[in-house]
Amino acid sequence: SVGDYDEIYKFSCDLVKRVGAEIVAASRVREKLYETKSSAIDFVTETDGRVEKLLMDAIAKRYPDHVLIGEESAVEGKHQELTDAPTWIVDPIDGTMNFVHSFPCSAISLALWANKTAEVGLVYNPTENKLYSARRGGGAFLNGDPIHVSGTKELSQALVMFEVGTSRDPAKLRCVASNFAALHPRIHGFRSLGSAALDMCMVAQGGADAYYEYGLHSWDMAAGVLIVREAGGYVCDTTGADFDLLSRRVLCAANSELASQMSPMLAHVDLPRD
Ligand code: IPD
Repeated sequence: SVGDYDEIYKFSCDLVKRVGAEIVAASRVREKLYETKSSAIDFVTETDGRVEKLLMDAIAKRYPDHVLIGEESAVEGKHQELTDAPTWIVDPIDGTMNFVHSFPCSAISLALWANKTAEVGLVYNPTENKLYSARRGGGAFLNGDPIHVSGTKELSQALVMFEVGTSRDPAKLRCVASNFAALHPRIHGFRSLGSAALDMCMVAQGGADAYYEYGLHSWDMAAGVLIVREAGGYVCDTTGADFDLLSRRVLCAANSELASQMSPMLAHVDLPRD
């Protein structure tokens, strides 16, 4: 029940607020140094690593029996395992490219999953002091106020979020381009914040009606999917099948009607699972 997670929820909210201050301080530096990871446009900064360590150390100290999965601690190419054990899934800076450019849309994404189910999800944009939060069965909130998805059911009236992603793999980019071309004439418009977690929160708060992406990782979506669902929205695989956290793809919508109009229009790309 929601009550079982009261303490974890409070601990998590305090933690992201405290650690978020580190991101704000670091973002005042004009030229951010970065290194590249899986591609020339997949960035990591010293702040990503430092913030992840602060989060991980605090969680390990408070909940020594829990499992931790973190973007910067993950070993490239090594498959993740999601067990039934309580598991924290951490992205210290979702939207690292934005952080490097001082585009003020980056967030800490922090989620607790247990029995392969999201129980607590937080997405905190420290620059704009926006904390999106959800507990399973407890609703979704922005800075403590309830949020809800839009009522849009027609794709022709939808504002749709998408991301190009951080890969330059030709097959992946063909997928991005063909989905853009297929949907663009049939919707109101596209938007992109450069952070998967914040895109999902925008659907949750009703500012956009749907979001889809191929190529993202578990830590980009572990919190956002709970926030969308708790805001009344619908989360599934891009094919329309059940959502799978390790599948590298997601479709979120204000409702299932909208999702079922989108999924048949999407061209898919095969990506190695997380
Ligand atoms: C990335 C951002 C980006 C999305 C990528 C993610 P990161 O996360 O969410 O918007 O398109 O798929 O990997 O690397 O900045 O944590």
